[in-house]
Amino acid sequence: MQTKVMKCGQPAYEYAAKLIKSGDIAAIPTETVYGLAADAFNPCAVKKIFAAKGRPQDNPLIVHISDINMMKSIVSDVSSAALKIAEKFWPGPLTIIFPKASGVPYEVTAGLETVAVRFPAHAGAQEIIKACGTPLAAPSANLSGMPSPTSARHVFDDLNGKIKLIVDGGSCSVGVESTVIAVSGESVSVLRPGMITVEDLKAVVPDVTVDKAVLEGAEKNQRVASPGMKYKHYAPKAEVTVIDGDFEKFKQYVQSRSDSETYCLVFDSEEKSLSLPCLTMGKAEDENEHARVLFERLRELDELDAKKVFARMPSLNGVGLAVYNRLIRAAAFRVIRL
Ligand code: TXA
Ligand code: MG
Repeated sequence: MQTKVMKCGQPAYEYAAKLIKSGDIAAIPTETVYGLAADAFNPCAVKKIFAAKGRPQDNPLIVHISDINMMKSIVSDVSSAALKIAEKFWPGPLTIIFPKASGVPYEVTAGLETVAVRFPAHAGAQEIIKACGTPLAAPSANLSGMPSPTSARHVFDDLNGKIKLIVDGGSCSVGVESTVIAVSGESVSVLRPGMITVEDLKAVVPDVTVDKAVLEGAEKNQRVASPGMKYKHYAPKAEVTVIDGDFEKFKQYVQSRSDSETYCLVFDSEEKSLSLPCLTMGKAEDENEHARVLFERLRELDELDAKKVFARMPSLNGVGLAVYNRLIRAAAFRVIRL
């Protein structure tokens, strides 16, 4: 199969809609990461997503809408707290778990009684959903086990030959996947951190907690609130270790433990005082930049054939919690506190 890459614009949106309406799938840009989209009401099309990604069948998908009213066909009940949150943060990088409507296929929710819904802010994503006239089920458009794609090139590298179309919207502005929340009464539980932070949510609903699995690894076979959290998300070729300590300690630690295939993932300008090869993730205090570049850097480290990587501890402010959540998974939870 030939994979076509088309820049965002009417011809790309029309071709994506043509494919999706006829039961096929297409990769589309969003503000978080690229998604691999199918008509959420077509189980055969949804199965093609799982096949192309090599995704475990029991990991449910997010359903994307381009208008709050579109929820009616996928959700059976919207609580007042959930509606308040949706109205505040949509369109945007937030996914809300709702009780599902009966018409949502088993394949989308992996048999759960709930459905995850997101209204993306990306203009191209919105145009494609509108042109399809149906909600789109879409996980991240990477091969299962790879970092989520933040550019059309990343999607191409993973799925070339497996899908017909990638709509190229350039680099994703957020760079990490959406915040996923469950709402129960007046309480919110953050199942996956993202650009919409705990503090953002607290401004709307005061009772916000972070699920335990966000900062710890879920035990094998443990039931988790969000099935995706139990998977070892991304296993880089390199052994990644996160070093929690100031730069001087980091420097001492890594200089004595490195060999010719060791790389460092550091903040801007720190590379100047290290004798090891380094990739940078922005200024130390710029969490938004860390989020934007993290997945790209992880892919680059694999391409460089890094065998060992020492990463600086990201700040946990704002979207930093999301960066840390993704980085400790890439590090298989190896965090050294100095
Ligand atoms: O930013 C994003 O969310 C991107 C873009 C494409 O929208 N999508 C994305 O999808 O990251 P995916 O499939 O890679 O991650 C979806 C996460 C998984 O961890 C999954 O387990 C969880 O959402 N999820 C989906 N439906 C759920 C449900 N009904 N209950 C709990 N968790 C759910
Ligand atoms: Mg994913």
